[in-house]
Amino acid sequence: MSVDSTEADLRPTVETVGWVGSAHDGFVRLIDQTLLPGTFVHIDCKNVDQVWEAIKMLRVRGAPAIGIAAAFGALLGARSQGIDSVDSIRSALKQATTSLRTSRPTAVNLFWALDRMDRIAETEASRTSDPNTLLERILTEARAIQDEDRAMCRSIGRFGAELLSPGQGVLTHCNAGGLATSDYGTALAVIFSAVEQGKSVHVFADETRPLLQGARLTAWELQRRGIPVTLICDNMAAQVMKEGRVQAVVVGADRIAANGDTANKIGTYSVALAARAHDIPFYVAAPSSTFDLTLSDGSSIPIEQRDPREITHGFGHATAPEGIQVYNPAFDVTPAALITAFITERGVIRPITREAIRNLIGS
Ligand code: MRU
Repeated sequence: MSVDSTEADLRPTVETVGWVGSAHDGFVRLIDQTLLPGTFVHIDCKNVDQVWEAIKMLRVRGAPAIGIAAAFGALLGARSQGIDSVDSIRSALKQATTSLRTSRPTAVNLFWALDRMDRIAETEASRTSDPNTLLERILTEARAIQDEDRAMCRSIGRFGAELLSPGQGVLTHCNAGGLATSDYGTALAVIFSAVEQGKSVHVFADETRPLLQGARLTAWELQRRGIPVTLICDNMAAQVMKEGRVQAVVVGADRIAANGDTANKIGTYSVALAARAHDIPFYVAAPSSTFDLTLSDGSSIPIEQRDPREITHGFGHATAPEGIQVYNPAFDVTPAALITAFITERGVIRPITREAIRNLIGS
């Protein structure tokens, strides 16, 4: 991987992941999120293995951003066996998408984006015998996934902002901001959009153990946008609610089943329980690409298990005795009954029923 160190600019959004150059010789460029907030560095991925590693190691993370990175990664793969024939491009792309599917299991956006890349390669390969045309079409599809995500973020922001009132405290968990999408975030889009409408809100960001996406990424994003934010440890959320500091919770999602059960970063379920106990609305902001209507309920959502060292050696320093047993699921599933509403790019789903989800998302 070649590394290019760039100063963080103050644009309203961050270019989390993108394609640099042409379909023939371009590459994937992404922010290495493992180094934030201390270091703002772009990494250039020039083959599928590098994209796979970047997704696995959370250099790029957040459900929509993973899907976008994988879509561009599929194009890198498509070129890997030479670009002399449409057939070799098509079979190389299939090999790449098969590999990228193994990087992380929970966020359905990854599989949704790779399905699209597989489909476009199949369809276009049957329509053209020109390898250049095929590569261009593959790039166009990956760019479309990115552009559509940008539009979805903006729309989620607009719908969600209606649910917040001026002066409210809003708690969020993990990072569902610009770093997790192509533009504006999902949960944070709601906050950005409310602030753009002139509503002052104060955000409470859970630090999000064990990898601290809330502390390292959400706090960073909000601070550089000038939005008031207070960082808390995960185990403080209930107390902060009891003290009356929080009037709404907004989180993102990695996969939402047909009945509304929602997988998101580990700890989200506890936040939902605490919100219910304090009668605080609990909103999930997610694009339609995060819904998986093939799963009847959350019990069959695959939950990623990660390296125990993320808990015992957080950021390199031993914080537990050598040889201790560890359980490290990266996500949990919040039952639909605890969720007040889904905020999607197509509108708000409230109350949550199978039928309401199918009607808005199922087409
Ligand atoms: O393990 P991560 O950092 O990829 O987990 C991310 C989350 O859980 C986000 O809340 C989710 O992907 C939504 S991002 C818009």
